[in-house]
Amino acid sequence: MGDEAIVTWGLTKRYGSTLALDGLDLSVKRGEIYGLLGPNGAGKTTTIRLLLGLIRPTSGAARVMGYDAWRQSVQAHRHLAYVPAELSLWPQLTGGQTLELLFRLRGGDGRAGAGRRYMSELVERFQLDPTKKVRSYSTGNRQKLGLIAAFMSRPEVLVLDEPTAGLDPLMIQVYRDCIREASDRGATVFVSSHVLSEIEAVCTRVGLLRDGKLVDEGPLDAMRHIAARRIRATFSGPPPELSGLDGVGELVRDGNRIECFYTGEIEALVSRLAGTGLVDLICTEPSLEEVFLAHYGEGHPGREFDSAGMNASEWTPESAGADSGPSR
Ligand SMILES: Nc1ncnc2c1ncn2[C@@H]1O[C@H](COP(=O)(O)OP(=O)(O)OP(=O)(O)O)[C@@H](O)[C@H]1O
Ligand SMILES: [Mg+2]
Repeated sequence: MGDEAIVTWGLTKRYGSTLALDGLDLSVKRGEIYGLLGPNGAGKTTTIRLLLGLIRPTSGAARVMGYDAWRQSVQAHRHLAYVPAELSLWPQLTGGQTLELLFRLRGGDGRAGAGRRYMSELVERFQLDPTKKVRSYSTGNRQKLGLIAAFMSRPEVLVLDEPTAGLDPLMIQVYRDCIREASDRGATVFVSSHVLSEIEAVCTRVGLLRDGKLVDEGPLDAMRHIAARRIRATFSGPPPELSGLDGVGELVRDGNRIECFYTGEIEALVSRLAGTGLVDLICTEPSLEEVFLAHYGEGHPGREFDSAGMNASEWTPESAGADSGPSR
């Protein structure tokens, strides 16, 4: 076995006329935290289900810790733990009973030991009430249970499908700490998300999936260019010129307001805006679909961004596109 935890070759899944995953070639080294980023319907869950051997590839293959994901799924599963996007559990058991059952299924015994201590520690850190029945758990609590179950088994490979969906910010922090701990002890993590900041926070390498295809891939540092921000600024008078400032795109002016897509340094933007009568500044993360349209979209990205990203109630059609044109 090489130093790769997960490898896929031309991994393809077709559902009737839908090509859910189209020839995915992927290689994740042991100890890496790999983020698969893609908008809804990109093929993230399909990829993960193929890696887990839950569905059979139409063509191509995947290996997890050296085992064929479909034909040797039993062996592969000895090395991995996963949290699906929608977790089905025994509704009549309490959270604590569920964890105990999963702990024993994983080979843990009834005595107190390091494994059991880690389980209790995780329950505490995720602030899960283990005495409640699983059917009464909220979405977030079910998600926490799934994460505790996955982390407590200290697997060599963790496969997580949109793990932070339903978690509040405090719990997202606990989740991120757990990912780092798993990574520190040498585990490989494969995590999917449609939120860029989520992947940025934990991953060392990122793959961008769109319409079943890997459109870009690289170490996080090399992918910073996709970390755009949407900027909305309001001024007491006419807005200043932003031409010449690197990273400004799809600029739209509307009276005393401007809105743009920005990939440059925030500090450079803020210094340009300082002293120009700035009265309000909103800086948000654009949706992944907007980022994709701007970077990998067909045709003129500005136009598509205008229609996809502008709020019609705030931005008049005349002003939209009046000063547009990506500088990238
Ligand atoms: N069992 C299925 N039968 C038919 N089509 C499917 C099936 N599962 C997935 N698809 C289709 O395959 C494509 C990829 O779906 P997938 O669930 O992998 O996307 P995703 O990236 O996980 O999206 P999301 O962010 O919404 O979870 C979609 O077009 C979806 O409709
Ligand atoms: Mg999904």
